[in-house]
Amino acid sequence: MHNKIQNSVILITGGAGFIGSYVVEELLKNNPAKIIILDNLIRGSFDNMGSFIGNPIVEFAEGDIRDMALLEKCIAGTDYVFHMAALRINACASNPREGFDVMLKSTFELVELCVKHKVKKVIYSSSASVYGLAQHFPTPETDNPYDNQTFYGGAKMWGEQLFRSFKFMYDLDYVALRYFNVYGARMDTDGKYTEVMIRWLDCIRDGHVPLIYGDGSTSMDFVYVKDVAKANVAALSSDVTDEVFNIGNCEETSLKQLLEMLLKVNNSSLIPEFREEKTVNPVSRRLADNSKAKDMLDFEPTINLEEGLIELSRWYFEKKKATALSL
Ligand SMILES: NC(=O)c1ccc[n+]([C@@H]2O[C@H](COP(=O)([O-])OP(=O)(O)OC[C@H]3O[C@@H](n4cnc5c(N)ncnc54)[C@H](O)[C@@H]3O)[C@@H](O)[C@H]2O)c1
Repeated sequence: MHNKIQNSVILITGGAGFIGSYVVEELLKNNPAKIIILDNLIRGSFDNMGSFIGNPIVEFAEGDIRDMALLEKCIAGTDYVFHMAALRINACASNPREGFDVMLKSTFELVELCVKHKVKKVIYSSSASVYGLAQHFPTPETDNPYDNQTFYGGAKMWGEQLFRSFKFMYDLDYVALRYFNVYGARMDTDGKYTEVMIRWLDCIRDGHVPLIYGDGSTSMDFVYVKDVAKANVAALSSDVTDEVFNIGNCEETSLKQLLEMLLKVNNSSLIPEFREEKTVNPVSRRLADNSKAKDMLDFEPTINLEEGLIELSRWYFEKKKATALSL
């Protein structure tokens, strides 16, 4: 099954990031010849790469995917590419021009270079954002992408269509994966767009009342990062091409349930308080239908929310302790 990876040269754009670093770890289990990571470290880090940065088969190219010469140098001679470098949804909204350069223009350059250098297959990180507020729950891949209102979701959809058209025109094999709400150890904790889980973990650690804005009914489909990495490897290893897959956990969890679970796994008796919602989230529900990935990629998530939150909490509290000790 993993014979494609063995002895292959693989490029991962954004490989120093949250999900990318787990993809590298998953690939290393299958004896690739070389893994090249291209990342400008705006969000990725050496900490994320701690388990493999000294590995002689891993080459880290610090740089930007907008640097065409560097991108070409990284792509030339590679068998496979995982394209994961991207701006976050809020970063695209606050700077759409940069969003255009990173998400659209550079993805276009990358696809052209993959054709030029005869890359055998690309795995593209797309997003459930393409659905906006979906029409059906659980959401199949056939739900339409016209309800998305974000630049980020639009850019991901365009990326998928770009790969489709290059498959049609130049026979470049690809698979696009629409991740739902990915969480886990190494997720962003200090950045501008700190996730709600991290805010609540801070409250649990400091004994502060955790706040829920709105009634807490907004739901998400939280998928653990190690499962997402496995989905990426399954997408590369299979012979499937020209397809897009949902990658979620297929469990709908409201924010209120998420907080209850976080309190439970950390044996906390804090009582949440509700506050008026400041902004209305147009996407009030997320729930993936993964059946296509199960049928065609033999992929199924293995880590449930409780297990994932235990692992996340352990990692986060250890990280905070280590930071405090080093100060
Ligand atoms: N985390 C999620 O919940 C989620 C959900 C859906 C889709 N995705 C997609 O999955 C992929 C990985 O996301 P992540 O959560 O690991 O995010 P991340 O921000 O941790 O990883 C992205 C990496 O890309 C790098 N990068 C950004 N711009 C770059 C540039 N111009 N040149 C080179 N490197 C650059 C960053 O430094 C970072 O290491 C992204 O494409 C993202 O859009 C993530």
